[in-house]
Amino acid sequence: MCGIVGYIGPKDPVPVLMDGLKHLEYRGYDSAGVAVLDGSTLATERAAGKLANLADKLRLHPLKGSYGVGHTRWATHGRPTEENAHPHTDCTGQIVVVHNGIIENYLSLKEELKAKGHLFRTETDTEVVVHMLEDEGPDLELAMRNVARRLVGIFALAAASTRDPGRIVATRQGPPLVVGLGRDENFVASDVPAILHHTRDMVFLNDGEMAVLTRDQVRFSTLGGEPLTKSPTRITWDPIQAEKAGFKHFMQKEIYEQPRAIQDTLVGRFSLDSSQLYLEELNLPPEAARAIRRVVLVACGTSWHAALCGRYMIEKLARLHAEVDYGSEFRYRDPMVDEETLCVFISQSGETADTLAALREAKAKGARTAAICNVVGSMITRDADGVLYTHAGPEIGVASTKAFTTQLVALDLLALYLGQTRGVLSLAQVASHLQALTLLSGQVEQALGLEARIEEMSRHYSRYNDFLYLGRGIQYPIALEGALKLKEISYIHAEGYPSGEMKHGPIALIDENLPVVGIAPKDAAYDKLVSNLEEVKARDGKVIAVCSQGDTKIAALADEVLPLPDTDPLLMPVLTVIPLQLLAYHIAVKRGCDVDQPRNLAKSVTVE
Ligand code: AGP
Repeated sequence: MCGIVGYIGPKDPVPVLMDGLKHLEYRGYDSAGVAVLDGSTLATERAAGKLANLADKLRLHPLKGSYGVGHTRWATHGRPTEENAHPHTDCTGQIVVVHNGIIENYLSLKEELKAKGHLFRTETDTEVVVHMLEDEGPDLELAMRNVARRLVGIFALAAASTRDPGRIVATRQGPPLVVGLGRDENFVASDVPAILHHTRDMVFLNDGEMAVLTRDQVRFSTLGGEPLTKSPTRITWDPIQAEKAGFKHFMQKEIYEQPRAIQDTLVGRFSLDSSQLYLEELNLPPEAARAIRRVVLVACGTSWHAALCGRYMIEKLARLHAEVDYGSEFRYRDPMVDEETLCVFISQSGETADTLAALREAKAKGARTAAICNVVGSMITRDADGVLYTHAGPEIGVASTKAFTTQLVALDLLALYLGQTRGVLSLAQVASHLQALTLLSGQVEQALGLEARIEEMSRHYSRYNDFLYLGRGIQYPIALEGALKLKEISYIHAEGYPSGEMKHGPIALIDENLPVVGIAPKDAAYDKLVSNLEEVKARDGKVIAVCSQGDTKIAALADEVLPLPDTDPLLMPVLTVIPLQLLAYHIAVKRGCDVDQPRNLAKSVTVE
């Protein structure tokens, strides 16, 4: 997820672009750049790291122009370096492009362009766009139409050219783009916060639409060239609220970003037609995958819960022995791993000290290593032999939500890949699982529909000081995750337990003051879990049941029912965690807690 901004008008574009990028830093902040044009001149400045580094460079080398584009990056292809930072220019230095998204077919396009003599200077997918525009005629609008039609993937693009001065051309297919209408000036950006200080009249582009901005007008059309009439929306948010897209907290916004994050994590990684998986970045070719005898998954916190789910996925889909350990434990236990072990390190930040140390311990013992991570170029991704990135975009809230569900999706892809390369899964089995993956995003949308009910429930349940979460099988890690979400943002004591353990101790806790959250989708463990919940009810416990839609048995038993659509049992954790995230969020809000920055916690634990 990156941030794009464009400006054309009477003001000096650089401060407008920099202010816009500042308000888009929550979308990505590993490198940034601006480009300004004036008649026949085009100048760019880029910097790795925080936006402040770019500001420093601009102070030393000011840019002059009458319009321009800017970009703040969240790397998906190519390390977060200055040369990979946007804007990108073509070989002639006359055309400039900024991009948010993933061009899936960039490798084949790059080969085609290289064969025509184009020189590439970056590792990014985006650079193919500017070279393709160069091969088109000078009319930038027409060029963009022709180029966008050839792109596969998701893209929000803004481009400008000295061959067609005085215009910014923007189009989207997937990631958002909004046009700001000013007086004698116009704007384009990834999101409202970037331009809200300048105008409240916004036009939101839809997929397959294009906007051509000049100083005094904006023309809208379809990619096919059909003119469109689009009326502006008057935005009433205040700027701070706008960075949260109108949500009260980043955590709530990120809970709602999960459908998109899951989609982005799946993009380009498999073909439904051929049931092929494309996980080259894992650097685990089929023969290496076949040499693996067991898998060890290592992580901390919420990522450790994802690892626990991953174990079920790998053992079920790849028929490979899998075990899970905390980073803080693995690193000190002189682990038994070797070249036949695949050690997978899961981390949103890629900087967690215990997980990083565990990775180095595994490498020292000759294990094959892979990272599942959300931050391109982070330490763990640099040390691991291969990486499977989650494309969740920056996660600002300390409590991990979209990173967790995208970790589950990435682990499922890894398990599928291992199963396929080891000949354990038939094409038909892979195909049906991939089909379930493609439906997941929409099902998460459905699960988010429970929010109103959960917000209402939280008025009552925010009064309790102890919670118990129960799950079985692959839902046991979700019981742990639900408990962690609640305790870390509302400071309520909460425990997750495998429900089969109830009779070995926790059942002594049950009374009317202890709400029990039972995660009971219709799976192999359903009947057992229902009987555990009946034991809770028999002792006056309160039961909140996360269950399958239409489950009347649970509805008759539980005090509260949170029904979900059904999917493959291995993917069901992606759905069952959603109501638990929302429950933790709303209880914490009702208790007046600092949801985005809970006490004593940091987003990335880079100390031991
Ligand atoms: C999760 O909500 C917490 N913020 C925390 O447990 C986190 O998952 C843990 O610190 C691991 O972080 P990582 O994924 O960046 O390695």
